[in-house]
Amino acid sequence: MSATLDTTSLLADRINALEESSTLAMAKNARELAAQGHKVINLSIGEPDFKTPAHICEAAKKAIDEGYHGYTPVAGYPDLRKAIADKFKRDNNLNWKPENIVVSTGAKHSLANVLQVLVNPGDEVIIFSPYWVSYSEMVKLAEGVSVVLDGPFENDFKVTPEQFEAAITDRTKVVMYASPNNPTGSVYTEQELRGIAEVVARHEHIFVLADEIYEYINFTPEGHFSIGSVPEIADRVITVNGMAKGFAMTGWRIGYIGAAKWIADGVEKLQGQVTSGTSSIAQKAAVEALLGTMEPTYEMAKAYERRRDLVVKLLKEVPGFRTNVPQGAFYAFPDISYYYGKSDGQTMINNSDDFAMWLLRTTFVSTVAGSGFGAPNCLRISTAASDEALTEAIQRIKDAVATLK
Ligand SMILES: Cc1ncc(COP(=O)(O)O)c(C=O)c1O
Repeated sequence: MSATLDTTSLLADRINALEESSTLAMAKNARELAAQGHKVINLSIGEPDFKTPAHICEAAKKAIDEGYHGYTPVAGYPDLRKAIADKFKRDNNLNWKPENIVVSTGAKHSLANVLQVLVNPGDEVIIFSPYWVSYSEMVKLAEGVSVVLDGPFENDFKVTPEQFEAAITDRTKVVMYASPNNPTGSVYTEQELRGIAEVVARHEHIFVLADEIYEYINFTPEGHFSIGSVPEIADRVITVNGMAKGFAMTGWRIGYIGAAKWIADGVEKLQGQVTSGTSSIAQKAAVEALLGTMEPTYEMAKAYERRRDLVVKLLKEVPGFRTNVPQGAFYAFPDISYYYGKSDGQTMINNSDDFAMWLLRTTFVSTVAGSGFGAPNCLRISTAASDEALTEAIQRIKDAVATLK
């Protein structure tokens, strides 16, 4: 092909319309600077810094030794679907049978599948914002229209039932949110979710896509609440979860849904044509994760809570930052807009992208701009790092912002 060829025009429109994932882009920048020898502290990635617990790894080794090497059923091994159905009952008060479960290649895959299965061109998908970067792009791929509702800082970044109801139209098909939330760490309480559920109950054409991937990293005394446990709307809630965060299994790629059978069947049909069943070995490991001891999961959650306390304390000491207190997940999400319009003499900071890039270049601390999460005034800082790294990073940030005038 000629070197001057405009390859963009050769790509399908659906790909040209997609944004690149801002989290992955920042992680790439950080890796490049580290390769040049800089002492980069990478707080941009949404990944546990723990290893997968040993008993789960043992189950994977056993699966290899026992010959689980072949294709798997499209919706997942029967024992894993049963373990997930049991987990939904045990932890979430959801009454799904194995036939309601579909296992996929990560929760990201599960979310994308459900949107492909439910959304027709032009259908509206209400997204509670701040939201995980991929939601709006997945909606685009399904030819839907994102309707982004802002949860304000003052309400701990959460959307109210009134706000939600006001955004509903005849074209609304799905409402989606994550709790605990990435990027804010906010947790919708049972009362708040019951309020949302009441609205859904009044609008029979709406489905809820509840992303519960951070379920086990929840610091509230009340713990996690699943909106799918509200009986009036249970058959219209698709609960998404996975192994990545709570079990430190990001690379194993296991996500799953619990949903009404016709939706699960739709996802299975799609998956049957696109990816087939996910990894045999990872599925066997997931069975052990769900049925075996939860002790390592609880220990990791305690560590994240301790780091949350540390990071919030340190961020509150950074002049100009406004920081909420995350109730779950492993992110802090300070409002940094005080510095917009300021400069260190060389670089003018006009928005969160400028800020994140300037921070990386001047301090080698890698974070992610809030813009990709629907929150242009904020900066996402992952707390999945050691106390030393977090303390050092925030000191570097504090020193750097002192140069902005
Ligand atoms: C809110 C949210 N949902 C889903 C995912 C995807 O999880 P998985 O690694 O299982 O695809 C992530 C990962 O960062 C996330 O933050």
